[in-house]
Amino acid sequence: SRLLLLNGPNLNLLGTREPDIYGSQTLNDIEHQLRQQAEQLNLVLDCRQSNAEHQLLEWIHEARTTHVDFILINPGAFTHTSIALRDALAGVAIPFIEVHLSNIHAREAFRKHSYLSDLAVGVICGLGAQGYGLALQAAQQHLQHNS
Ligand code: DQA
Repeated sequence: SRLLLLNGPNLNLLGTREPDIYGSQTLNDIEHQLRQQAEQLNLVLDCRQSNAEHQLLEWIHEARTTHVDFILINPGAFTHTSIALRDALAGVAIPFIEVHLSNIHAREAFRKHSYLSDLAVGVICGLGAQGYGLALQAAQQHLQHNS
């Protein structure tokens, strides 16, 4: 199976960005670990990050043509703002899991609402970088049971 990991705005700053909230691992560290985990599970994983909403939309559209089976996405702040991201994910109809490093429900009120969560297979938040690994594991199970 083919999986796509998308990370949205400011996640390129992981490691130095508010480490008390987001942890000390860099995005490279996280992607490296996830690629290893994917390889062990016999999954093809493509990892991408962008600060631009437009770029994330293009990648989601492209995922349909390249037959991506599952998307793991941490949309960063676009979680709380982007109807366009929601529409793109609904439009390509590729199952996805929403991941957040921090517990968005234990922070500012404006982080409690996500434009994506009700469309997601599931949502993982508050477990730090570990959340990505758990999401990958869940994606594999989902694909096994739905193919
Ligand atoms: C985040 C949570 C968002 O509210 C925030 O804007 C981010 C990161 C997380 O991983 O905890 O950029 O998605």
